[in-house]
Amino acid sequence: MMEKKCAKLILTNKNIKRVSGIMLEEIEMGLRQKSNKNADIKCYPTYVRNLPNGKEKGKFLALDLGGTNFRVLLIQLGETAPEKEFVSREFPLPDLIRTSSGEALFDHIAECLALFVKEFKVDKEIIPLGFTFSFPCRQEGLTKAKLVQWTKGFTCSEVEGRDVAELLQNAIHKRKDVHIKIMAVLNDTTGTLMSSAYKQPNCKIGLIIGTGTNACYVEKIENMELLDGDSDDSNQCIVNTEWGAFGDNGSLDFIRTDFDRALDSVTSNRGKQLYEKMISGKYLGEIVRRVLVSLAKDGLIFKDSSYKCLLEADKFKTKLISEIEKKPENDFTDCECILEELGLTDFTHEDCAKVRYVCQLVSRRAAFMAAAGVATLINKINEKHVVVAVDGTVYRLHPHFRHLMEQKIKQLIRPGLSFELILSEDGSGRGAALVAAVADRMKREEIYRNLLKKVFL
Ligand code: BGC
Repeated sequence: MMEKKCAKLILTNKNIKRVSGIMLEEIEMGLRQKSNKNADIKCYPTYVRNLPNGKEKGKFLALDLGGTNFRVLLIQLGETAPEKEFVSREFPLPDLIRTSSGEALFDHIAECLALFVKEFKVDKEIIPLGFTFSFPCRQEGLTKAKLVQWTKGFTCSEVEGRDVAELLQNAIHKRKDVHIKIMAVLNDTTGTLMSSAYKQPNCKIGLIIGTGTNACYVEKIENMELLDGDSDDSNQCIVNTEWGAFGDNGSLDFIRTDFDRALDSVTSNRGKQLYEKMISGKYLGEIVRRVLVSLAKDGLIFKDSSYKCLLEADKFKTKLISEIEKKPENDFTDCECILEELGLTDFTHEDCAKVRYVCQLVSRRAAFMAAAGVATLINKINEKHVVVAVDGTVYRLHPHFRHLMEQKIKQLIRPGLSFELILSEDGSGRGAALVAAVADRMKREEIYRNLLKKVFL
C-alpha cells in the first residue's frame, strides 16, 4: 500500500531517457534565435569565452551570492604558485534581506565587502572583482547582467529586469570608502567550470546541485545565435543553460507527482523552476515531509498523532535525508534521534525503515533527473572524454548521490564517450576571481597590442 502510494516517485529507465530527449530539444530551442522565446531552457550566453591560461596575476576579489549565505574572497594569482594567497569570509544573509528591497540587499553586500577589504587592508587599492550572482540573468556583456527572475525563495523588489552589476557598483560608489571595480558577473556554474578548467582542460561542464540546480557547458560559437558579435576571436563560449526552468511549459508533467504539484503551489515562484524543484536542496526535504504526512494521514506510518509536528512547512530539512541514508540499512540510531528531535513519539523500527525508504526514493529520483541532464550535455558536446566539475551541498553531503548519478549517466551517454565527475572545491567563489583575472589579463593584452600597433605602424 505504501509502495503503491509512492510508486510515481520511481523513475523508469524509459522515462529517464524521455527526460533526456526532451531536454535536448529544449536546449536546441534555447540556442536558436527563432525558438528561444518559447524555450524553457534559455541557454544564456555568458560572454566568458577565454579560460584561464596561468598567466593571470595580481589580487582579485570575488563575491558569491546565491544560496543561504554570501561570501567574499580575496585571491592572489602569481607566476610561481597558481594561488599564493586565498582568504575568505562568509556573511549571513538574513531572511529579511532576502525578501526586502533590492536597495537593502545591495547596500548590505557593499557593507560586508567594505568590512572585508578593510580587514585585509586592501581598501586603498583598486581591485578587480568577479561577482557570482547565481540567478537567471540575461547578459549583454561580461559586466552587464539583467536579472530575469528570482529563484530559490529570493524576492527582493526592484531587481528583476535590472542590471545587477550596476546595482552593486552604485551601492559601492555610494559608500565612498572603498575602490572596487566589477570586472565580471557570472553564474555559480560558470565559476565552478572555470575554477576546474584552470587545472583540467577537458573540463567542459559546470554543475551545481545545491540550494538550486543548474549547469553550464562550453559551446561552439557557430551554434550560438544569441551571442552578439564582439571583438574577441575565441571560437567557444560558455552557455548558462538555466536548466532549473526545464518543465515549466508542462513537458515534465508526465513524471511530476501530486507531491510536486502541492509543493510548487506554495512557493514564491509558483509554476517556475519545476525541474529544480525535483532535484535541489531547497525542495528535497520538503518533498519527503509531504510524502510522510500523506502516508501518516492514511494510517500507513506513525500510528499516533505526534506526526502532526510534520505539518509545519520546511520542518524536514534536506540535510536530514543525507544523515538518514548515511547509516547502513538496519541501523536506525540516527533516524531515531532525528525523528525525536522533530517531535515524533512512539515510532517503531518499521516506521524508521519507511522514513528511510521515502528519503531514498526522493534522493534517487533527484540524482537520476540530474544525471539525465548531465548525459544530455555530454552527448551534445560529443567529445571523447568530458570532465564535469560539480559543486553544491546536495551533491557534497548525500552519501550516494554521486554514485547514483555516475551509474545513470553511463547508461545514457552514447557508446564511445566517457566522462568523469570531479568535485570543484569552492568553484563559485574562486571561479569568479579567475573570471575577473582573465578579463583583466585580456584587457592588459589588448592595451599591449594597441601599444605595439602604435609603435610599429
Ligand atoms: C539559479 C541558477 C543557479 C542555480 C544554482 C538556480 O535557482 O536559477 O542561476 O546556477 O540555482 O545555484
